[in-house]
Amino acid sequence: MAVPLSSPYFIAGAVLFAFAGSVAYFWMSSFLFGAGYQGAPRRSVDAMFRLSRLTEDDFLFELGAGIGAVTFPAARERAARVRAIEIEPLRYGVLRLRRALGPAADRIEIRRDNMFSTDLREATVVSAFLWPGAMARLKPKFERELRPGARIVSRCHRIPEWTPTEYDPEADVYLYVLPGGSAAG
Ligand SMILES: C[S@@+](CC[C@H](N)C(=O)[O-])C[C@H]1O[C@@H](n2cnc3c(N)ncnc32)[C@H](O)[C@@H]1O
Repeated sequence: MAVPLSSPYFIAGAVLFAFAGSVAYFWMSSFLFGAGYQGAPRRSVDAMFRLSRLTEDDFLFELGAGIGAVTFPAARERAARVRAIEIEPLRYGVLRLRRALGPAADRIEIRRDNMFSTDLREATVVSAFLWPGAMARLKPKFERELRPGARIVSRCHRIPEWTPTEYDPEADVYLYVLPGGSAAG
């Protein structure tokens, strides 16, 4: 016997299916793309801006941008240029949508890309909220590609063997400044 589409059983089943599918996708995407998700709290975003002394002269790269916790306030409140790099397609879609629907779109680039192979040479500031292995893997790339005086702000995770220039324990944000510049620190 067919269940009519308007039946409460059908609707409840569809909602449950969609919910289970979303949970499964978010869980699976961690394995498919090496990409777990957790948004940075506003307090950490503010600490990243304060420690890096982010201004309109900067070009910030958010590595693993998620849904843009750093990207949008950096462009809209600090007037920085921003490149958001995100590998996971759903979050990439959300980033595109948020860019299209809000102000400062001309200062925001959204790229669906792998941060381990993205070119960092143009960045003056890099923000990261990743995991310890990612920081270790990015370290030689930072050394090779970032210019003297470039700043890296990382929530929760240190860059192995580097000494942070500053650390905000409340927000759990580390600042690193590449040697050789006249940068903030
Ligand atoms: C912990 S979340 C942080 C999101 C955002 N930066 C924030 O602070 O709210 C890490 C993000 O990195 C993305 N990611 C993981 N591996 C990546 C890779 N290789 N390239 C680009 N993005 C990646 C994940 O999809 C996820 O959205």
